[in-house]
Amino acid sequence: MTTREPIGVIGTGYVGLVSAAGFAELGHEVWCIDVDAEKVARLRAGEVPIWEPGLGELVERHRGRLHFSTDIADALGHARLLFVAVGTPPTYSGDADLSAVRAVVNAMSPSDRHALVMKSTVPVGTGRHIQRLFKEQGKGEFRYVSCPEFLKEGSAVADFLGPDRVVVGDDGDWAGDAVVGLYAPLGAPLVRTDIASAEMVKLAANAFLATKISFINEIANVCEETGADVLEVARGMGLDERIGPKFLRAGIGFGGSCFPKDVSALKQLAGNSGYHFQLLNSVIEVNELQKRRVIGKLQKHLGGLVGKRIALFGLAFKPNTDDMREASSLVLSARLQADGASVVAFDPVAEDEARRLLPNVDFADTELGAVDGADAVVLVTEWPQFRELDWVEVAARMAGTTVIDGRNALDPEAVRAAGLAYEAVGRAQYTAAGSSSPTRRAPAPVT
Ligand code: UDX
Repeated sequence: MTTREPIGVIGTGYVGLVSAAGFAELGHEVWCIDVDAEKVARLRAGEVPIWEPGLGELVERHRGRLHFSTDIADALGHARLLFVAVGTPPTYSGDADLSAVRAVVNAMSPSDRHALVMKSTVPVGTGRHIQRLFKEQGKGEFRYVSCPEFLKEGSAVADFLGPDRVVVGDDGDWAGDAVVGLYAPLGAPLVRTDIASAEMVKLAANAFLATKISFINEIANVCEETGADVLEVARGMGLDERIGPKFLRAGIGFGGSCFPKDVSALKQLAGNSGYHFQLLNSVIEVNELQKRRVIGKLQKHLGGLVGKRIALFGLAFKPNTDDMREASSLVLSARLQADGASVVAFDPVAEDEARRLLPNVDFADTELGAVDGADAVVLVTEWPQFRELDWVEVAARMAGTTVIDGRNALDPEAVRAAGLAYEAVGRAQYTAAGSSSPTRRAPAPVT
């Protein structure tokens, strides 16, 4: 094969669109398919429907190579490798909803020259299941490859073009060879394996990273009670090469389209196969409790929340994205309102999506607009610009003095110098005395 063969990408969400733009950057013609006709029309008009650094430029630069259509036949007609990047949201039980994947499989016509390359995160066993479906539908010659995507929102383009590794799970046929060849120019380490193992790599990697976050969040909570500083602890832990410094940032919990969904999916997958994955229950529970701790801190500072005005800095599930999926801000604002507070928010890019999800929240155009008359400010998403704020001006505009830094992203001394009461996560020296946590308390030691 040549490295410039045409590619089909089904689904133009984060993973699909970034992959398509990435393949175009590598010199391929890419046929992008989506069932959403309006989205396809926008993409054809050169509009990029998601906010992702560098993506707009890449799509613009390769407009000639990127073709958008609602008809899967367009991809089948031009490409032999069809990358599937459709949503696999959690169902009520936490299992992955594979209806979009099934719809793609059903839409494929029989062929012995095509391969479905799964980019979406799916439960282990999905590949084999799809291969069975293909057989039942008389499409037994359709090849299947699992090629999970590990890109992070906010740095998706860079992650796609410079991956830590490429994982290809296949049956050792031409399709696996073709996918390996496609990624070869990126020079990343390759893990070529069987389909089930490739599927498990993605779930296990995300569940492990989520576990790391819940672990450091619990360490942070203990730090608050015992006089330690989680930033120092994470630094000391992270220099151990076996642990590594990444994903040890304590905060108000993980969100996004992947971690909450994939941890639940792996837990459910294990349960469905008869194994109780105990650790993941705790990872999920700790993540929920971590969001609620902020409420406890606010209550302690403000002496109750009824009638209080709380300003949220940042709404997206993390900086550099407008993605609100499973964002901590959703839980936080709902809890604050349920407890009688009013919520005003500012996010540099996620406001449009947030307005849809948070109809009872007031939105400000600037940080300073958000703090006008606020009793407390909570930093929810660590956009760098919040660190640069003039805290004297913030203090002058606020009605109260409380600043809860949910991501340990602000300069505590700058905030305190403005006469504000600063509280961090897991930093005992920046924790108000008598920290009351709504989370589980350890039982009193037996004497
Ligand atoms: C994640 C995986 O990193 C990526 O490999 C996979 O393909 C998709 O899921 P993403 O959801 O884009 O990527 O974001 P990531 O940067 O991993 O952050 C996830 C969440 O964890 C965010 O809410 C972030 O704020 C939180 N987080 C991350 C922490 O709370 N602490 C940390 O130390 C790191």
